[in-house]
This record gives sequence, C-alpha cells and structure tokens, in this order.
Amino acid sequence: MPKDKIIFACQVCGHQAPKWLGKCPDCGGWNTLVEEVLSPARGRVPDLKKDKPHSIHEIESSDDDRILTGIEELDRVLGGGIVPGSVILVGGDPGIGKSTLLLQAIDGISRNRKVLYVSGEESPKQIKLRGMRIGVTSKDLIILSETSLDLILQSIDEIKPKVLVIDSIQTVFTSDLPSAPGSIGQVRESSGRLMFYAKRTGIPIFIIGHVTKDGSIAGPRVLEHIVDTVLYFEGDTGHTFRILRAVKNRFGSTNEIGVFEMKDSGLTEVKNPSEIFLAERPHNVTGSVVVSSMEGTRPILIELQALVSPTNFGVPRRTSIGVDYNRVSLLLAVLEKRAGLHLMGQDVFLNVVGGIRIDEPAIDLGILAAVTSSFKEIPIDPRTFVIGEVGLAGEIRAISQIEARIKEGAKLGFKRVIIPINNAKKTSKVKDIEVIGVASVDETLEILFR
Ligand code: TYD
Ligand code: MG
Repeated sequence: MPKDKIIFACQVCGHQAPKWLGKCPDCGGWNTLVEEVLSPARGRVPDLKKDKPHSIHEIESSDDDRILTGIEELDRVLGGGIVPGSVILVGGDPGIGKSTLLLQAIDGISRNRKVLYVSGEESPKQIKLRGMRIGVTSKDLIILSETSLDLILQSIDEIKPKVLVIDSIQTVFTSDLPSAPGSIGQVRESSGRLMFYAKRTGIPIFIIGHVTKDGSIAGPRVLEHIVDTVLYFEGDTGHTFRILRAVKNRFGSTNEIGVFEMKDSGLTEVKNPSEIFLAERPHNVTGSVVVSSMEGTRPILIELQALVSPTNFGVPRRTSIGVDYNRVSLLLAVLEKRAGLHLMGQDVFLNVVGGIRIDEPAIDLGILAAVTSSFKEIPIDPRTFVIGEVGLAGEIRAISQIEARIKEGAKLGFKRVIIPINNAKKTSKVKDIEVIGVASVDETLEILFR
C-alpha cells in the first residue's frame, strides 16, 4: 500500500506546503502550518450512502436514548445525559481530576453496559489502585493501556463497548503522521478519526484533553469546533472545589455548571453549592458581602471579599481574582465619580471566595458594596445580600431571574436583599425576607452603611 502523503496546511488560510514553514507564504501568519495526511487514510473512507431528505416532522427522535451516568451534576451539564454518537471533550489543567471524574462516571454507566477506558497515561495497575480507592469496581468496565490509534480502534471493534473514554488525546498517535503524539497534527487527526467512528457506530466518546498554559486545549482549540460538547473541569488546586462547565454543547445549555468536591475517596457531588461557599464566612468583618450568581438554572450565593488599603507606591494596585479585572476598574471609577469615594490613593484587592469565577453583571452591586465596606471600615449586615447591575451613570439596572435568587437567599436564612428598583416593582413578596429596591449607587450605599 502506498504511504499516505503528508502535507502542511495553514490553519488560517488553507495554504498547503510540502514542508513545514514558520511563516505562511500566503497569509503571512506565524506558526500556522500544521501537518496533515493528504489522502484519506485506510479505513477512514466514509461508506458513501445516499441519504434521502426528510421533513423535520417525519424524523423520529427522542430524548430517551440518552445514557445517564448517575452523577447528577455531570448529567445536568451534559444537558440530561450522554447523547449516543456524540463526542465530548473534557478539558482541564493536569491534576485537576479529569481521570477521576470520568472513572466515576463510567463506573455508573457500566453497571449494565460495557464501557472501555483507554489510558495512555497510566498502567492498568495504577488505574485499578485508584479505582479501589474511589470505589470503582464494575466488572463491565474494561481498561486498556494503549496509545496507538489504530490498535485502539481495533480493540473497540473487538470489545464493542457502549461508551468509550480516551485519556488523554495528547497521548494518542497515528503512524500515518511522523510527528510526535501531542502535536497539533496528531491531536487533530486522531480526534477526527474518533469523531468519525462515533458518528458511524453511535458510540459516545469522551476525549480527555490537557489544557495548555495559555488556556486553550492543546492543538489551539482545534478540537473545540469538531466535537459536539466541550466541558471544562476547573478549580484551584489549592481548593477542594471543582467546577464542571459546558463551553459548547450541541445537545444542551451551556449555562449549566456542576459542582464537585475532591475528597480522599474521589469526587463527591455538591448538591447545594451556596451552603458550602458560605460555610466559612466571617461575621462582622469589613469588605465581605454575599452576592447571587445564576449558574444555568441554579442560583448560587457566593461571598465576595474586598480589601482596600492605602497604597505605598505612586500607582495604586488593583487586583481581582474570580471577577473580570476591567469590570472592577469600571466599577471603581463609578464609585469614585458617582459616590465620591476617594480610591485614588488606595490599593484594591477583590476575591471571589471558593476559587470560582463569576462572569455576571448581577454581582456589580456586590463589588461596590464590598469595596465601600472595606474603605469605610463598616461591616455589612451578614444577613443581607445584594443583587444588581451597575451602569456608568450610577444607576442600578434590572437583572434576570430575580425570584429564584431571592428564594435561594431566603432558604439559606437571609433576612434582607437589595435588588434593582425595576425588579422590585415586579416581584411578588417572598416569605421571611425583606426586599428593598434601589435606583442608584448612592441609595444603595445609604441603606447599607447608614
Ligand atoms: P486526576 O484525576 O489524576 O487528574 P487529571 O486526570 O485531571 O490529571 O486527579 C489527580 C488529583 O486528584 C491528584 O492530585 C490527587 C487528587 N485526588 C484526590 O484528592 N482524591 C482522590 O480520591 C483521587 C483519585 C485523586
Ligand atoms: Mg489523568
């Protein structure tokens, strides 16, 4: 059989070259050429079968085919279980717990189906050791230590699993490409073939991928647009909390998150994240405030902390962890201009407790409250929480899903909530909690620090 031809193709403009080049001669992009197999590789030629067009009305489909992992947090992030034939990429920093999560997930699945876990990183003995520790014992869970894609595909044909896990895509290689495993060309080619395999056979595949330092899944996000679902497993290695987030999902919402805690016996689900995130909250300390963030369909209450202290250098420092830096700068400017707080000579540090990240304008008001509390050295009533987006004119703007947020607060024993006036007008009364509507930053600060 003739050897497949290798070419180098620019990922930006498509220019092809017989040799690797640092700069694309066509579009001028640097380091954009990636090795590819030119001819369709053996066994990869699709069985060309002509499909007849259907009216959408006639197509039969149901959500019942989804495979449940039994881990509710994971099933919810997937959009209600695994869709047959889908390819799910699970990305995250090394050591965050990806292998652990998937071992636990497929243990649940393999109670009544065969599941194949292919590891290129650990030997079967090591996997067994970990499995014993976290209670993964199913006899239908089959472990294969292999890195050659061709051999992996052969094994799948023999074993015929119902779900497949590849841990990790960076260790898998095909001998059609001369480059080392983990290179962009290898990652792309291997996942392309796995993708094709999944679509042809209907076997769902989990692909684990390590995230490189700049935050992209190695092979600069090349995988993200070919797979159906991209999940990121994130968290601070210093903290025990782990968040599973969908960044792309063809079969569900991308707003959902799953919260886990890493323990000695593996990952456990956190069913009520608010309670955990607020568990160690100090009382009557300045700079601490509770805010509400919607994570998909769930409201989560989280503590925000600010520390404002006189700067020692000419230029004040502004540091934010867990919230967008630009947003914080903008809000500090609003405080300065609209509320007359002199933050010019002050360092400002802001932190979301628990090592999680919030990207929601509904916490704006919380940021202002925390900073003001630390600046004025007045603590905020621990049984009050604040919700609201802040505009540049110092106005408080309405936010979505207000009732769910208020109810979550009431459930956790909060007695008072400050919300945007336009939300307050439309909200019906919630038991045991006082709802205060505010229109401006001034008004909020007046209520909190009177
Ligand atoms: P792992 O799943 O190997 O991470 P990844 O596959 O993302 O590289 O998890 C490794 C970390 O998890 C390791 O630092 C130890 C920790 N861990 C626990 O704390 N408890 C456990 O039961 C297990 C299995 C791992
Ligand atoms: Mg691993």
